[in-house]
Amino acid sequence: MIVTIDGPAGAGKSTIAKLLAAKLGFRFLDTGAMYRAVTLAALRRGVPCQDATGWAELAKQLEIRFLDQRVLLDGEDVTDPIRASQVTAHIRYAADNPQVREHLVKLQQEIGRRGDMVTEGRDQGTVAFPHAECKIFLTASPEERARRRVRDLQQRGERPSFDEVLAQQMQRDRRDSCRAVGPLVQAPDAIEVDTDSMAIDEVVERLVEIVVTRRHAGLGEPGYKKLQEAAVSPRDDDAQELCLH
Ligand code: DC
Repeated sequence: MIVTIDGPAGAGKSTIAKLLAAKLGFRFLDTGAMYRAVTLAALRRGVPCQDATGWAELAKQLEIRFLDQRVLLDGEDVTDPIRASQVTAHIRYAADNPQVREHLVKLQQEIGRRGDMVTEGRDQGTVAFPHAECKIFLTASPEERARRRVRDLQQRGERPSFDEVLAQQMQRDRRDSCRAVGPLVQAPDAIEVDTDSMAIDEVVERLVEIVVTRRHAGLGEPGYKKLQEAAVSPRDDDAQELCLH
């Protein structure tokens, strides 16, 4: 079974997808890490940002692997370097490149053929796995996502301004949604889960319910609609903040 989790930056996709996969005993795929790994390699090798063909050729030569929650690029553990702000600042040269996307989507589909998996990104339910059995669109208000990002940066010893973080995030949202290939859009058959004022455990529990129901219910259209209605109304008990790593 393939479970796709798409949504904007700061919605909690990685944290939630990892926990969900662990609970279900599924593999977990962080597709953002693949775009990050290509970007890191291109920057290290000095491939010019405007050389779209060069970026695509390089992407095809790289070996990107996931091992015990670590990301390996040609055998080197790059889990931390791919999160550097210099990589984030250049990631659009990989993410907006149709040939890079085509190659990475193929790799994602190959990984998906190996069995049960939770995969997270922007285009997993729309482009990579349009026939996935369970699709989630994880979201939260822009302000809440920016608050989480500020807390995350503060925990790393930075002193970010909320307004700046919000502005950068809106720019990233726009870029993700307006991308010509593989834009961030909610698949028509994805269930939207708004994580505003939900604790991590609550979100995971909700998603487990959705996955289990999708797997066992043998859903017809009315059952699916019902499930969708049930899934989108957030609970207000025990509300805690969602912390991102
Ligand atoms: O989820 P993240 O922040 O690690 O993703 C890094 C970038 O990669 C982000 O700017 C959007 C892009 N991305 C994408 O275009 N398609 C995906 N499936 C995953 C990430």
